[in-house]
Amino acid sequence: MIYFDNAATTMLKPPAVAEAVAAAINEFGGAGRGVHEASLASGMAIFNARVAIARLLGAPDPKHVCFALNVTESLNCAIAGLLHAGDHAITTAASHNSVLRPLYAKVDDEGAELSILPVAPDGSVDYDEYAALFKPNTKLVVATHASNLTGDVYDIARMTAIAHEHGALFVLDAAQTAGSVPTDMTALGVDVLCFTGHKSLFGPQGTGGLCLADGVDLPAFKEGGSGTHSYDRRHPDFYPEHLEAGTLNGHGIAGLAAGVAFIESMGVDAIHAHTLALSDRFEAGVKDVPGVRIYGGHGGVDRTGIVALNIGDVDSGAVSDLLNAEYGICTRAGAHCAPLMHQALGTEGPGAVRFSFGYFNTEEEVDEGIRAISEISSEVG
Ligand code: ALA
Repeated sequence: MIYFDNAATTMLKPPAVAEAVAAAINEFGGAGRGVHEASLASGMAIFNARVAIARLLGAPDPKHVCFALNVTESLNCAIAGLLHAGDHAITTAASHNSVLRPLYAKVDDEGAELSILPVAPDGSVDYDEYAALFKPNTKLVVATHASNLTGDVYDIARMTAIAHEHGALFVLDAAQTAGSVPTDMTALGVDVLCFTGHKSLFGPQGTGGLCLADGVDLPAFKEGGSGTHSYDRRHPDFYPEHLEAGTLNGHGIAGLAAGVAFIESMGVDAIHAHTLALSDRFEAGVKDVPGVRIYGGHGGVDRTGIVALNIGDVDSGAVSDLLNAEYGICTRAGAHCAPLMHQALGTEGPGAVRFSFGYFNTEEEVDEGIRAISEISSEVG
């Protein structure tokens, strides 16, 4: 099998990740629920994970790294807490449904307002058009760091500066970039960074979280057991417990910490350079294949290791099925939970076949992908 679906989830992980989960599952008690060795082991591992994630993503305080199930839960938490009736929010057409649907719910159910910055057919956005969307009641911008369809990385520093000029907070969806594109939330001016563990951070599924900038406060998204202050009527107001309720996924977070340790040992720059070299090689190899059309990828200030394409008028699902059945190549087809991006690129009908490369892919695998696309093109052309 050749795995080119790393933007959905990384399947090939550093061996230390599975080792850490396997060790944790038989060693961890409930973090914060006891003073015995097993509980402290879990608590220490989770604390160390907060420290490593804060360091990797430029978060100012490990105590303000709060764990959640995934980036979707983190974004729901941020949007629920920061946008209220009568407020105006801005997002971009590059947003995933994990941003769009919580925002639409606020509009439909609570009377918030929403503006969506268009994406041009080449994947780019116009930052002057973005600046013109702000209104006196704009409270929040929620935007993706990189499109999960094209891999275009947007100019977040520019976007946060404009948001702050207008007194709005900026929530970053870093699902596609945390661990694979250098990301320093403090340098970028991000107020809340939402991440997922199972993609480029190499963690297990069911891990993710939010990093809060200094001074940013959110209401508790869930309430329940916190292991402390049990006689208080409501959930603790101090971090990280404020945004975490119930026993955390300590086993998964131990794996996530191992993934982050691997990234720190390799360097995000080196990981980014490797995946870009693979996507560049793939793009160069398929761009002149008859019928191949590549979408975006050059509309941002940087890119992730994604190449999205179609072959002629063939449905993307059919091409992805052929890649899997005939070549053992895993890709993702269809809409990628990014409906506005597909509309912007004109791919609402066929969807697109997304190749997303990861650190553990090789040039030989990429060449096999090029060969497969060339053969499929000649068969369907
Ligand atoms: N959001 C993930 C993707 O792009 C699942 O595939």
